[in-house]
Amino acid sequence: MFNFAALPPLSLYIHIPWCVRKCPYCDFNSHENKHSVSEKQYVAALIADLDQELPEIWGRQLHSIFIGGGTPSLFSAEAIDELLCGIRARLPFTADTEVTLEANPGAIEANKFQEFHAAGINRLSIGVQSFNDDALQRIGRIHGRKEAIRAAELAHDAGFDNFNLDLMFGLPQQSLKQALEDINTAISLEPTHLSHYQLTLEPNTEFHHQPPVLPKDELLWDMQDKCQEKLAIGNYGHYEVSAYAKPNRQCQHNLNYWQFGDYIGIGAGAHGKISNAQFQTITRHVKRRHPQEYLQHASNELRCSSRNNLSQKDTGFEFMLNALRLKEGFASSLFAAHTGLPISTVEAPLKQAEEQALIEWTATHIRPTEKGAAYLNDLLQLFLPE
Ligand SMILES: C[S@@+](CC[C@H](N)C(=O)[O-])C[C@H]1O[C@@H](n2cnc3c(N)ncnc32)[C@H](O)[C@@H]1O
Ligand code: SF4
Repeated sequence: MFNFAALPPLSLYIHIPWCVRKCPYCDFNSHENKHSVSEKQYVAALIADLDQELPEIWGRQLHSIFIGGGTPSLFSAEAIDELLCGIRARLPFTADTEVTLEANPGAIEANKFQEFHAAGINRLSIGVQSFNDDALQRIGRIHGRKEAIRAAELAHDAGFDNFNLDLMFGLPQQSLKQALEDINTAISLEPTHLSHYQLTLEPNTEFHHQPPVLPKDELLWDMQDKCQEKLAIGNYGHYEVSAYAKPNRQCQHNLNYWQFGDYIGIGAGAHGKISNAQFQTITRHVKRRHPQEYLQHASNELRCSSRNNLSQKDTGFEFMLNALRLKEGFASSLFAAHTGLPISTVEAPLKQAEEQALIEWTATHIRPTEKGAAYLNDLLQLFLPE
């Protein structure tokens, strides 16, 4: 039985599933041909979906909002404004609540960032990937170096004092020098946050079927190491496997995921996790993935492709799966606060991890050691339910 004294912070994720062109490495729920659906229709569906979720979250305040995709910057500022107005009318959040929108440098016009800002977006996450034209072309992006730099400059000009740049490394034919140049250019544009992902070949993508030649493991380690050094010199703290931030600029929304907070997911394919103090349950929901099917069912129960209660065993593992990604780990009291379970539930694997020098465990805190962070999968395996 779970036993929640209080509930974890509650975030809201909104999925917009369209892109100008599908990138060959991407397995996110994103589709070409946005024009088959009107923005108005999709925003109405999102609000109808949210309305259905409200009984699960009565009285709770929003901790953060993230509009992701796909390419949400394809939507007009009016549509984003309408969406945020609809949310504000249903769920309380304050003026300083982090509200992020994902933007693609190839899908923004000059005034759009200003209009997003006016609509209430206070953080952008810009999918730059690289500043090298050849690399961008090889990974099938619709933008080049010029557009990537312009996007960051437009973010500053529009008054965003908080924005992220997404970079990928380990790109086809990428050299160490090029990976470092990308980091240098990114730092020179003064984002408050940088996400640095190693390109992975995901099943069901073009790159998986026709793999490009990627840098060898040794070069990948080197890239990661040297890029991390540069980011540290630039005062970007490494706080999660792939996330770096200026002091106090960690992404509040993602931190809530990693600290096993609650979140509602609305939109095609969106995931959510909600704790319930009355019934002492944790429920996960997944919305229908295909945009047309989602639209058709947004206001009824069929909008969900699954809705399951988490078992206690899975809950301990899922907490660790998220929280051990954090470089500083977590306060041990967070486990009980956000899972509703006593820490004794995971005492045996914690002891094992400590014996193998994969974690440091003090009276108040648990954190992965350098070895634990380097062998994160081995560490997490210890918590897998039998
Ligand atoms: C959900 S995507 C959306 C961002 C936006 N649509 C864009 O691409 O400009 C978020 C980020 O995930 C990263 N990403 C996507 N596919 C990846 C892959 N196969 N390997 C590593 N990172 C990936 C990219 O850096 C991307 O910016
Ligand atoms: S623009 Fe982003 S979400 Fe869309 S296909 Fe490319 S990586 Fe995926």
